[in-house]
Amino acid sequence: MTLLKIDKLKKTYDSLTVVDIPDLEIKSGKITAIIGPSGSGKSTLLFMINGLEVPSEGCIRFEGEVFSSAQSYSLTVRRKMAMVFQKPVMFNSSVYENIAYGLNVRKNDLSYKKEYISEKVGNAARLTGLESKLKQKAVTLSGGEAGRVSVARAMVTEPKLLLLDEPTASLDPQNISAIEDIVREANRTYGASVVIVTHNMFQARRIADEVIFLLDGKIIEHGSTESIFENPSDPRTRRFVSGEMIC
Ligand SMILES: Nc1ncnc2c1ncn2[C@@H]1O[C@H](COP(=O)(O)OP(=O)(O)OP(=O)(O)O)[C@@H](O)[C@H]1O
Ligand SMILES: [Mg+2]
Repeated sequence: MTLLKIDKLKKTYDSLTVVDIPDLEIKSGKITAIIGPSGSGKSTLLFMINGLEVPSEGCIRFEGEVFSSAQSYSLTVRRKMAMVFQKPVMFNSSVYENIAYGLNVRKNDLSYKKEYISEKVGNAARLTGLESKLKQKAVTLSGGEAGRVSVARAMVTEPKLLLLDEPTASLDPQNISAIEDIVREANRTYGASVVIVTHNMFQARRIADEVIFLLDGKIIEHGSTESIFENPSDPRTRRFVSGEMIC
């Protein structure tokens, strides 16, 4: 089933078009990896999907709503997505409050009790190995710890769509593995669809069902993880996934 549909989407800064996607469908319940060189438009695409960056042309359809330069997502739809940013953003409060953020902003509408929030935060902290850090000021965390807080904050609301922009870039192998397990678990246990940007080809192979290869803002190839890595149809995909430079 289609979760998200992109139609004639373009993003242009000054006169430079950095994303140009005539059409793309992202499937529900799958983990989709976006790969591509630095500057190929991966983060910009994620920002548009999340409704944080307005398309210059075209639109994105999600949950029956359209997002374009003329129309924003409703709050209800926005709350079905969560994003982990490439550069972790820590609020000037405790790790607990940082993780609880998404639950606190919903608590009046959804009548969340304090105990419910505390249990959810505790679970997210345990999964991300942050239990002993809950009282610490988030701005004093190491880069890797802040990265894990970002993941915990995104997961805690059990979003339908989880957008991850290089969530493991500053982590050691053990933490990378832990985060990958959490993402898989979110996907399997409550059916979260995941779009993950990664520079790590091993990670894309390990975690993704589908892979999109982006180059200069355009989709060069989109297919199953196996087809992209084992039998890519475009020579540029083959060169990229094998680690060769692209001219
Ligand atoms: N606000 C902006 N104003 C002008 N140019 C921008 C802006 N945001 C992004 N760009 C440009 O758009 C292009 C795509 O950027 P983007 O951050 O999406 O790339 P990326 O694929 O995520 O790269 P990386 O792998 O390095 O994170 C880059 O050339 C970038 O400089
Ligand atoms: Mg980026």
